[in-house]
Amino acid sequence: MKATYYGHGCFGLEIGKKKFLIDPFITPNELAKNIDVSSIEADYILLTHGHEDHVADTELIYTNTQATLIANFEVANWFEKKGVKEGIGMNIGGALQLEGCAIKMVSALHSSSMPDGSYGGLAAGFVFVFEEDEVEKVVYFAGDTGLHKEMELIQEEFGFVDFAFLPIGDVFTMGINDAIEAAYLVNADTVVPMHYNTFEPIEVDLEETKIGFEEFRFEVFNIGEEKELI
Ligand code: NI
Ligand code: MN
Repeated sequence: MKATYYGHGCFGLEIGKKKFLIDPFITPNELAKNIDVSSIEADYILLTHGHEDHVADTELIYTNTQATLIANFEVANWFEKKGVKEGIGMNIGGALQLEGCAIKMVSALHSSSMPDGSYGGLAAGFVFVFEEDEVEKVVYFAGDTGLHKEMELIQEEFGFVDFAFLPIGDVFTMGINDAIEAAYLVNADTVVPMHYNTFEPIEVDLEETKIGFEEFRFEVFNIGEEKELI
């Protein structure tokens, strides 16, 4: 799997031949000003919830790529009215079988409203399950969430998580200590931190954070960086 970081909570994942762009918030993010949004390719746009700092560039990316939107029912409906016509609405606990990859929507402990204040359904995370070289891979993309015990269900269902994308910035989501606990709850091998340093309240000391995650592989991305995760 190839992963590219676009800043804040936004990653591109390339799984098999498909490109997934999750939570696009790029053009309003000063730290991501060097990203050329028009060059981003996507087959699917996934949104974990309706907050502006996760959905800001959805229409722009959709216009550029005609990607299929995957989000909770309310978020998908809201964007359909804005002209994003290819949406697939899901809800917590539901799974989708796509070409080469299954996606399950899992719970997050967070709020969700749309940028205009309208109802945004329930915030969620996504679990991706796919095969790479005939080995099953599991990716947990937590979205914005506080620590919650239902994360343990991911370990119960899948046994392990190869790559856990976890928010660490605190204030609006888990902070570092809770994110470490989350990594244990899902039985993560590699942790990829997100949702930090974008704004002043969520600034973290990455060196300190690395020490906290010493029991795991800790994979930090610079903004704009693409890596093959194996
Ligand atoms: Ni949020
Ligand atoms: Mn957020």
